[in-house]
Amino acid sequence: MKNDEYPPSEDTFFIADNIENEKGESALDLGSGSGYLTKLLVENFSFVVGTDINYGVLKHQTYKTKNLVCCNGSDALKIKFDLIVCNLPYLATDEILDVATDGGAEGFEIPKKIFDSVINSIKENGKFIFVTSSLSNYQKLIDYTQKLGLKTRIIAKKKLFFEELILVESTP
Ligand SMILES: C[S@@+](CC[C@H](N)C(=O)[O-])C[C@H]1O[C@@H](n2cnc3c(N)ncnc32)[C@H](O)[C@@H]1O
Repeated sequence: MKNDEYPPSEDTFFIADNIENEKGESALDLGSGSGYLTKLLVENFSFVVGTDINYGVLKHQTYKTKNLVCCNGSDALKIKFDLIVCNLPYLATDEILDVATDGGAEGFEIPKKIFDSVINSIKENGKFIFVTSSLSNYQKLIDYTQKLGLKTRIIAKKKLFFEELILVESTP
């Protein structure tokens, strides 16, 4: 692991299994990390961008991809995407000690920043798919996407030993 890179994990593979049939022109992997999902998206989308708030992680990415941008959410991007995926830092934590996993209070603080950014980057007929968990207040996340005007539904769940992973889809 280099520069605190988050290695592909259960939540990464959970998203991967559920997006393998997604196709289109443009896709964004928000919080690209190792680049595992970004590289997967390159197979089915002609233009793929990965963003991450951690510059070191992007610089030394394990699964190398092009079009990497260091920013919060999609703040630096002026284009809109057919598909945006995000393996959120969703853990409910008092402080943000690890940007890869810590979501802040109720696991909402960092996801909120990401949602506020993403809302400007989804095409009218596009979709935003994110993973969260029973360890966070995931209903609060879902309610917030709806407050932003998105239609949101849970599309898959996966029970692990300590938590249940929840995959959510939001559309304009
Ligand atoms: C749980 S890891 C997921 C990494 C990779 N996508 C995967 O699925 O294995 C979350 C990633 O989001 C990044 N991140 C955290 N907060 C962010 C933000 N506000 N904007 C962009 N990226 C962020 C972290 O640096 C980390 O690489």
